[in-house]
Amino acid sequence: MRRKYLLNAACAVCALFAATAWAQEAPTPEQQATEATVNRQAVFRLLGLNMGPIVGMARGAVPFDAAVAERNARRIAMLATMIPERFTAMDTREFTVATEALPVIWEKPEDFAQKAQALEDAANTFAGLAASGDKATTLGGLRAFGGTCGNCHDAYRVDEAH
Ligand code: HEC
Repeated sequence: MRRKYLLNAACAVCALFAATAWAQEAPTPEQQATEATVNRQAVFRLLGLNMGPIVGMARGAVPFDAAVAERNARRIAMLATMIPERFTAMDTREFTVATEALPVIWEKPEDFAQKAQALEDAANTFAGLAASGDKATTLGGLRAFGGTCGNCHDAYRVDEAH
């Protein structure tokens, strides 16, 4: 009895998938551009999410925790490798997308990739400092680390003041 129910349920699921696949049309270039934009912004949001507590520690808003600082910096180093990849995945200049990415990114892909590499290197260096467990040593390295975010934003992101 139970077995039959499960089989029926499985068939219903199969039918549902088949119908969805049938109904699904290839995404339009506009939809692909939106998807590419949302995906790259997701990478940056995760960068911000991981940087937040570290900046909070420096400001005294969050208690210093060397393990969290090291862990988050390692995550940022990993995420940094996705930045150039998400921009070469699709050039969205021709599309109307909600973005702060400046078109010049696709004219200077090597420089852009270098700035992502600088972030990766700085994040690893910072993680090394945090591994010491010492608050002053760790937070003393934050300016150099965070500076690599700002360096790229200055060149390639719409000025937030505007
Ligand atoms: C290699 C260049 C580069 C580096 C390095 C970089 N960013 Fe960005 N960031 C951008 C660009 C370009 C955008 C705009 C993306 C868009 O809107 O399509 C952006 C957008 C953002 C956003 C907004 C995301 C959203 O919701 O739309 C946040 C937050 C952010 N960056 C945080 C950071 C932090 C924190 C770091 C450092 C840990 C960092 N970024 C390093 C280029 C960079």
